[in-house]
Amino acid sequence: MTDKNIYNGPNRVFSGVQPSGDLHLGNYLGALKKFVKLQDEMECIYCIVDLHAITVWQDPKKLAQQTRHIAAAYLASGVDPSKAIVYNQSSVRAHSELAWYFNCIARIGWLNRMTQFKDKAGKNSEKMSVGLYNYPVLQAADILAFKATHVPVGEDQKQHLELTRDIAAKFNHDFSSPNFFPLCEPLIEGPGARVMSLRNGTEKMSKSDPSDNSRINLTDDADKISKKIRKAKTDAGAIPLSLDEIEGRPEVKNLVGIYSALSGKSDQDVLLEYAGKGFGIFKSALADLAVSKIHPITELMNRYLSDPEELNRILSTAADRASEISDPIVAEVRKIIGFSGV
Ligand code: TYM
Repeated sequence: MTDKNIYNGPNRVFSGVQPSGDLHLGNYLGALKKFVKLQDEMECIYCIVDLHAITVWQDPKKLAQQTRHIAAAYLASGVDPSKAIVYNQSSVRAHSELAWYFNCIARIGWLNRMTQFKDKAGKNSEKMSVGLYNYPVLQAADILAFKATHVPVGEDQKQHLELTRDIAAKFNHDFSSPNFFPLCEPLIEGPGARVMSLRNGTEKMSKSDPSDNSRINLTDDADKISKKIRKAKTDAGAIPLSLDEIEGRPEVKNLVGIYSALSGKSDQDVLLEYAGKGFGIFKSALADLAVSKIHPITELMNRYLSDPEELNRILSTAADRASEISDPIVAEVRKIIGFSGV
């Protein structure tokens, strides 16, 4: 597909998080922290993607609660509802409608290459929902329903954003509308783009890891955070001086990366500070740092969660605003496709 982007509409940020479990440090560093920074730079739209969550079974009684949980995490991390639009995906119909049109644009071969589906489905792909298979098509619809130009995400979403660009380019090409959809720019770079498991430095920190010790949840209290960091896997060496020396030591690299992402220091500066010291000292400093950053978020999250009506009000006002932006875009798509509209 072409990489030429001649779209000249306004800059707009879109991103989303699934309400499929507690948020962890990877979600915070890879996504939420970036959301906060961007809200002062561009128009930002942040979604809780409950339509994506139901591609695997979700207990209906828990789904609404989990959705509010993610909304509270957004706000507690610093997303300001007076600056950014924070809403729930299923409240805005443009997502589902555009996803259908894109199902007719995306090619099966493109979806067959999606590594996240392969990872999630494993050997059971035949038994997975069709929704899980075309999950990235819905993701493209999320982004393009707003003609978003910038998408802040962790590294694991890179392939899905490439597919979004391919769908946008094919739509523009097939309907001779060369600058209708933007080819969105992924915002992935920076510390925290790929936070790894505390138990295995070669696997990413994930909500679905059966071991709770593999991740730091935004709901963990200070004691739990410290214990998990103390128990984090390391190797027998000490903290080295140079970046070259952490290559091939994935667990060390991960802990140094987490320290730098939380502190705002570079990896090299973190090494300079702790070089030659044992992991006991380093882990204790990292635990203090993590608690000092996460504890205020957890407290604020609990405060937002204690007022569900206020949260619902924020989500519902924002959903109206999201529909105001996306409905005219989808209406234009309908016209371009050739629906008569009667
Ligand atoms: P989800 O809910 O799995 O993750 C939410 C965000 O957290 C990032 N992330 C990580 N970043 C660094 N290290 C990690 N270990 C880590 N784990 C998760 C993810 O990259 C993501 O940015 N498909 C998306 C949700 C989505 C979306 C969208 C995102 C739906 N539609 C449109 C952007 C635009 C997902 O499953 O995120």
